[in-house]
Amino acid sequence: MIVLGIETSCDETSAAIVRDGREVLSCVVHTQPQHRPFGGVVPEIASRCHIRLLPDIVERAVQESGLAWNQIDEIAATRGPGLASSLLVGWSFAKGLALQTGKPLRAINHMEAHLHSVFLHPDAPDPTTAYPRLGLAVSGGHTSLYRMPAPGKITLIGRTVDDAAGEALDKAAKLLGLGYPGGPIIDKLAKTKTPHQGVFPEGRIGEHTETGGLRPDLCLSFSGLKTALLRVVQANPPKSDDEIAQLVSDYQEAVVGAIVRRVEKALRNEKYLAVGGGVSLNSRLRALLAQSCAKRGVQLLLALPKHCGDNAAMIAGLAGMGSGILSPASFDLDIDPSWADFR
Ligand code: KG4
Ligand code: ZN
Repeated sequence: MIVLGIETSCDETSAAIVRDGREVLSCVVHTQPQHRPFGGVVPEIASRCHIRLLPDIVERAVQESGLAWNQIDEIAATRGPGLASSLLVGWSFAKGLALQTGKPLRAINHMEAHLHSVFLHPDAPDPTTAYPRLGLAVSGGHTSLYRMPAPGKITLIGRTVDDAAGEALDKAAKLLGLGYPGGPIIDKLAKTKTPHQGVFPEGRIGEHTETGGLRPDLCLSFSGLKTALLRVVQANPPKSDDEIAQLVSDYQEAVVGAIVRRVEKALRNEKYLAVGGGVSLNSRLRALLAQSCAKRGVQLLLALPKHCGDNAAMIAGLAGMGSGILSPASFDLDIDPSWADFR
């Protein structure tokens, strides 16, 4: 089964060809640099870039795979969640391509695809038998925990009630004038210092916080963290690069620590923990999750760095496993910017 995948849910324009859900024959990812001056993704700019770039990127993915168009069995694209205007470009393009070539079309959920990205790693176990599994998706837009007890079963069990982990890091970097995206910059700076715990408070999920029926102790809140940082900076402006590094190290510890504690609370009988999304590149998060999993006899599954951020290989890969919604039903579907909850 050879799938051409298309991903345009945010600011990465990507196309990939994957064989049998795991073997990446090609994966072209373009990260749009136009958003940098704004310190965040500007939807209007993102969709215009996708329109301009996608045809060439799809053509390149086919060329780099060494395959001919008639060797591709299926076309898959992200239908949600993500930015509406960005999703529209990839999903409409995929529909047009499927109609033109007469190939089946599959709608793929972006979050489920992030959780599949770990299986694109050559050392990963067989995705059809690696159960029961806990899934953690951590990115600039999402911080969510999923229980995956058996093939085809996935349930959202916890998530952030406000900002995502990546967003919390990006906003902190912006506040400190460190650049965008902030996650990798903070990760690098934080490595030079030993983090102090408790400098920044862990977001509280109060009795009255709306969690959408999810267990409050498995939910997270990061919005208070950036206010806390602002207060610290106003009261005590960092006077050197050294002090900034210590500050971001403590801040990162609060973000990462909160995630790890939720994972530890959520783990029951799971044998595997699959972690996907841009923030899963974070070295401190990787180290703490590795410790935590080792203690509990859980196998930690991480994606290759190139498959942590948004990419089309995870879309084509998940499609190759038979997930998602296949044509003819898919042709009637519109994009779904909040197609996130599996219940
Ligand atoms: O998955 P992704 O590429 O796009 C979204 O779907 O959001 O994730 C992007 C996020 C950004 O917030 C970025 O700052 C963060 O991932 N990120 C990191 C690291 N690399 C990227 N966060 C922490 N540590 C990193 N090394
Ligand atoms: Zn993503």
